[in-house]
Amino acid sequence: MLQTLPPRAPIPTRLRTQLESFLVLRRNPLELWGEPAYEQEILPGKFLGRDQLMVNAPEGIRHILVTNAENYRRNPATKRVLQPVLGAGLFLAEGEAWRHQRRTIAPALAPRTMPILAHHVVAASAAREAELETLLHRPIELLPHLQHLALAIAGQSMFSLEMSGFGPELRRMLLGYGMKYALPGILDLMLPENIPSFVDRGRAAFRTDWLAFLDRLIAVRAAQTPSGDARDLFDLLSAARDPETGAGFDHAQLRDEVSTMILAGHETTAVTLFWSCYLAALYPDQQDRLAAETAPVDLSAPHAAASLARLPAVRAHVDEALRLYPPAFLIVRQAQQADEILGHKVAAGTTITISPWVLHRHRARWRAPDEFDPDRFMPGATPPERYAYMPFGAGPRICVGAQFALTEATLVLARLLARFRVELAGSGAVIPRGIVTTQPDRPVRFILTPRRP
Ligand code: HEM
Repeated sequence: MLQTLPPRAPIPTRLRTQLESFLVLRRNPLELWGEPAYEQEILPGKFLGRDQLMVNAPEGIRHILVTNAENYRRNPATKRVLQPVLGAGLFLAEGEAWRHQRRTIAPALAPRTMPILAHHVVAASAAREAELETLLHRPIELLPHLQHLALAIAGQSMFSLEMSGFGPELRRMLLGYGMKYALPGILDLMLPENIPSFVDRGRAAFRTDWLAFLDRLIAVRAAQTPSGDARDLFDLLSAARDPETGAGFDHAQLRDEVSTMILAGHETTAVTLFWSCYLAALYPDQQDRLAAETAPVDLSAPHAAASLARLPAVRAHVDEALRLYPPAFLIVRQAQQADEILGHKVAAGTTITISPWVLHRHRARWRAPDEFDPDRFMPGATPPERYAYMPFGAGPRICVGAQFALTEATLVLARLLARFRVELAGSGAVIPRGIVTTQPDRPVRFILTPRRP
């Protein structure tokens, strides 16, 4: 058993007032939950005068996300915060509009298309590795490199475009949005859906600029000579047709889908890679084991997708990083109609929270939940209990990009560890912080050295 425990957010030891909870929600939501959340199955409560229900019980989660999913839709605060960026794309769509989009998009991200996408993953990773090669033997912050890499992968797999022309502007816009508008304020949580807050005016102005930016990006891609075979997600999505109705996407819809894919995909994968590298640095023996696994494997672009099957330990490491640090730490829904969950009356309007962060460390579901143990995910190990492990959600709205994200994280991690030894520069404690995704709470510096001469 490995000794050092990987870092976690502190657990509060006493009940907080509503005001304290609100401040913690803004500072670090991972610090919201006390011991009972990690032990009990269902936790009713009230927040800002509204009914809340946290559900950890597998049957309850199945009810909300699978069997009665129509009754549990995205909550108004999520829509307020994300609509300016994601528009009417798949993430925020509901009902028939969602079904049409999901049917149309899912085939573009199915296992069949992974070789196309893996090709872009490797090309972008190779470019970033070459840059890291110039930064050996000195402390560097790895997260920004991984964020740029994940954005390059999102851009290249979406558009086959080198993102250096657009990447900095895209990151500047999203960073600005993240800082100013992405954290829900008190009005976002309190106001009825149809009443805009003053912050919504700023969000609407952002949307105008954002759409103009996406239009420019799409125009550059659309001007490229068409090719017979699909080169990227843009080709796949442009050609995609609803298998039931035959309908494709018009320009505005395609633009929202492009935005959704880039947004939902790049920061989540960047932090997955960050925590995977962090854990590899924290546990050097594990890192050597992964490097040994990658040594005989061909990770070049033409062979990368086929090589995935030969990387079970790297994949298990990514799975364990996603357990300990799930990038999407909270799934929120709002009950549309009154209902009952495992004997608990649910009034219409109740906010339902299902937290992968809590579930992945729940005492009743995991043996040694706070320990790093990638062997839990090795082939042949007993699979986790149903709905105890859900970094990608569950049910019909499960992450449509999960296959792609796992392909990307496994290939990039394998390539990085095949090439570099990754060590932490200094031993300052890092605390995971839930700011849109699960991030480190401070800059973390690593030292990279070449693994093989
Ligand atoms: C490690 C990386 C990723 C994680 C942890 C992650 C996590 C999640 C989770 C938990 C959900 C469900 C949210 C809910 O039920 O409320 C989700 C949905 C979604 N994800 Fe991901 N995701 C990742 C990567 C990606 C990528 C690479 C893409 C696109 C290429 C993507 C696109 C989407 C979309 C469009 C949805 C909404 C699906 C729907 O509502 O039908 N994600 N993701």
